[in-house]
Amino acid sequence: MEGGGGAAPEPLQEESQAQPGLPPSLEANTLKKSRWGLLLTGIVGGTLMAVYAVATPFVTPALRKVCLPFVPATTKQIENVVKMLQSRSGSLVDIGSGDGRIVVAAAKAGFTAVGYELNPWLVWYSRYRAWQEGVHGSTKFYISDLWKVSFSQYTNVVVFGVPQMMPQLEKKLGLELKDDARVIACRFPFPHWSPDHVTGEGTDTVWVYDVGTLRGKGRRPELVRFRLVVRKE
Ligand SMILES: C[S@@+](CC[C@H](N)C(=O)[O-])C[C@H]1O[C@@H](n2cnc3c(N)ncnc32)[C@H](O)[C@@H]1O
Repeated sequence: MEGGGGAAPEPLQEESQAQPGLPPSLEANTLKKSRWGLLLTGIVGGTLMAVYAVATPFVTPALRKVCLPFVPATTKQIENVVKMLQSRSGSLVDIGSGDGRIVVAAAKAGFTAVGYELNPWLVWYSRYRAWQEGVHGSTKFYISDLWKVSFSQYTNVVVFGVPQMMPQLEKKLGLELKDDARVIACRFPFPHWSPDHVTGEGTDTVWVYDVGTLRGKGRRPELVRFRLVVRKE
């Protein structure tokens, strides 16, 4: 026997978000459209965020006091650098190492080579390139601001900078480097140091400075001649 009396409860109706009064086909269409709208917003937003994340490290150097953008060394420039390293050994650092091409070339020439670079994407790419070229064991890349690290431990220093930074960098390296260090400047020379060697032409020119000779502790024939003339007078 059925217990209790009264009317049976109405079955629960599914809750609908649709506007009241819309025919079912139109209601489904509206739902579909709003889902597509959400997806599109997500895709556009995600893409914008990814572009922002990738582009920012490339743009920020241009906003700094000294603008040092990513301009990779040419093949000829790299050849000139490697030529100027022929009689050298020990460790090497590329200051602002970009995509790592100088560091990789130096490692292939037998150096333990290190790069300091502000842009994390370029550092990750450099590590990948070093691995691809089979020199990951003799290379290291740091995400680092060149003005905040000391280069005192390196015997070979390479820099492809911009003219505005060269006076400040000259001072910094002059204070930090040991007498046996060699500095190689690509494309732009240091303003006060006089080079021991210059090689290449135009934008591929590199200037070589031996710190010992800069401090008067090395041999540089033309300087010795100059001093003798001064004494005679
Ligand atoms: C002219 S590129 C030279 C790249 C590389 N050395 C070459 O020769 O192919 C200079 C590099 O310095 C990096 N840079 C700019 N400011 C920096 C900073 N404060 N510290 C470290 N790297 C910096 C830039 O991101 C850029 O990759």
